[in-house]
Amino acid sequence: MNVLYTKDTQAIFWNNNQSAIQRMFDYDYVIGREKPSVACIVSPTATDKFDKFFYGPDEIMVPLFRNTAEAKKRFPKADVLLNFASFRTAYDVTIEALELGGFSSIMITAEGIPERLARKMNAIAKSKNVTIIGPATVGAIVPGAFKIANVGGIIENIINSKLHRAGSCGLVTRSGGLFNELSNIISINADGIAEGVAIGGDRFVGSVFIENMLRMESNPQVKYLVLLGEVGGTEEYKVIEAVKNGQITKPVIGWCIGTIAQHFSTGVQFGHAGASANADRETAIAKNKAMAEAGIHVPTSFNDLPKVIKDVYLSLNISPVVEPKLKEMPKSQKKKNFVCTISDDRGDEATYAGFPISSLATPETGKGIGDVISLLWFKKQYPKWATDFIETVIKTVADHGPAVSGAHNAKVTARAGKSVVESLVTGLLTIGPRFGGAIDDAAKYFKYGFDNNLSPKEFLEYMKKQGIPIPGIGHRIKSLKNPDKRVEGLKKFASKYFPQTPLLKYALEIEQLTTSKKENLILNVDGTIGILMVDMWRALGYGEEEINEFIASGTLNAFFIAGRTIGFIGHVLDEKRLQMPMYRHPFDDIIYDVQMADEI
Ligand code: ACO
Ligand code: LMR
Repeated sequence: MNVLYTKDTQAIFWNNNQSAIQRMFDYDYVIGREKPSVACIVSPTATDKFDKFFYGPDEIMVPLFRNTAEAKKRFPKADVLLNFASFRTAYDVTIEALELGGFSSIMITAEGIPERLARKMNAIAKSKNVTIIGPATVGAIVPGAFKIANVGGIIENIINSKLHRAGSCGLVTRSGGLFNELSNIISINADGIAEGVAIGGDRFVGSVFIENMLRMESNPQVKYLVLLGEVGGTEEYKVIEAVKNGQITKPVIGWCIGTIAQHFSTGVQFGHAGASANADRETAIAKNKAMAEAGIHVPTSFNDLPKVIKDVYLSLNISPVVEPKLKEMPKSQKKKNFVCTISDDRGDEATYAGFPISSLATPETGKGIGDVISLLWFKKQYPKWATDFIETVIKTVADHGPAVSGAHNAKVTARAGKSVVESLVTGLLTIGPRFGGAIDDAAKYFKYGFDNNLSPKEFLEYMKKQGIPIPGIGHRIKSLKNPDKRVEGLKKFASKYFPQTPLLKYALEIEQLTTSKKENLILNVDGTIGILMVDMWRALGYGEEEINEFIASGTLNAFFIAGRTIGFIGHVLDEKRLQMPMYRHPFDDIIYDVQMADEI
């Protein structure tokens, strides 16, 4: 790896630090990145699935996950972890990510991770070839490609400091504040930086100066290096050694801050945990002297640093940077109230999950209602066997005669003179746990029994404890003697086209027990649909959590709602065509058991 990040680098951001993340997106937008630099956010307490951020004038949705493992599973290519956890959790978050694997670098912002843990963490990272930046850092930047969080400050400062595109300096500092200062100095006196890392102010940081500088040495975009060290520690000596032995050949400009320490009679602890000299050679003066002796360009004071940078830069005759065209940040940004992830009507033609309607609607497209449902309900193009199954379900449940709860209601309402939509709705409102709406719960309970290895007998005992009839079992008129042909049809379809049907097999074993008690306690049409949909989703590769979410949100009952709407409308139109009069229920079909007033 000769460059820390590229324009394709994507990060997982640990902790929903909204302002820092927004700064990354502002940067991405201005430099014209195609993919946002943050793929997703890990927010352990999040109850939402996503958070909205501005990307220029638009808002984008950034997925939220409860833990790094889930985030990494969903975004395997995001190989940078930006660990913004507090110093109490930062160690655990880093170790978890190192164990998960798939990260090329991890940046840790927290200050004050216990030194023993920091050393352990850094050693593990090194053994796994993962570049740690920090702890106690503002981060790093590859201008024009990827910027961590708050590096460079707000977008105006970034452009002023020419951090929006690559220059030719490789910059390493300990401090984040001085990193920004130096970036600005380099932009004024040279052409900006090609890569910059603030390695962090703690005594034990992950990647030290030399590791970052050796990478920059092999990065052709970097033409010279600037090292801003400080009092304390001996890391600068490794750089001196590399210059002496020829590992670093590019010109290096170096300065250690903290020379003021000589004017104090006792040792001084500067702001950073590591900024305190424990021996003579750790003083800024000693380090500056050693650097100069090794041929590093060392100014006489910090005030002279800009001039030295200018001189070295000019001596290299670097061709001027071709300034890229930047996108302008919009003057105002409007937060949107609604989000839509299934269809878009803004172009020439509306789309269903990206598919223009004309590519789905007419017969020559070869697409059916199953395709439309798979796109609009699940945002996926299911394979043919699955879209055919959906279509079979819709056709199967479209109607079951005038006597069933919903059709009866719709008919009575139509005869009261109500409109199609009003009559339809009264029919739809009967769909629930007893009639047509047992599909979700059938899937839920049978799946529970199966997932927990309950034997059919144990399952019946478990359901008895729940105190409800088993959803998906039982029918008013269908039984072993009068089998439901719809159920047979669905089962036949599944055995022919489904890759496997383990949940159906389990449900049929349970049906044997229930029908041995009472012959109408068959696996009914609701149950068969719910169970086969779970088998279908599993075969399509959905995870258990996604399937459970489908069930919990009522997706399965929606198949009955969609199908039966066709039948209810048929019944309502039938009433209207026949101009049937208002319905009144006959007295003799009602038991009247009302007390007399004097009995009360
Ligand atoms: N699980 C366990 N026992 C049941 C079940 C069941 N699902 N359904 C009925 N029973 C038992 C009852 O406890 C009762 O037992 P008992 O005689 O010992 O007291 C006996 O069977 C008769 O109960 P009823 O409620 O009178 O049963 P009926 O056959 O009239 O009810 C119904 C049919 C409402 C569908 C019922 O079986 C049920 O509630 N099933 C679960 C809900 C369901 O799946 N509904 C969808 C049906 S398909 C459709 O609507 C498209
Ligand atoms: C239906 O599909 O409406 C039926 O299974 C319900 C019934 O009572 O027949």
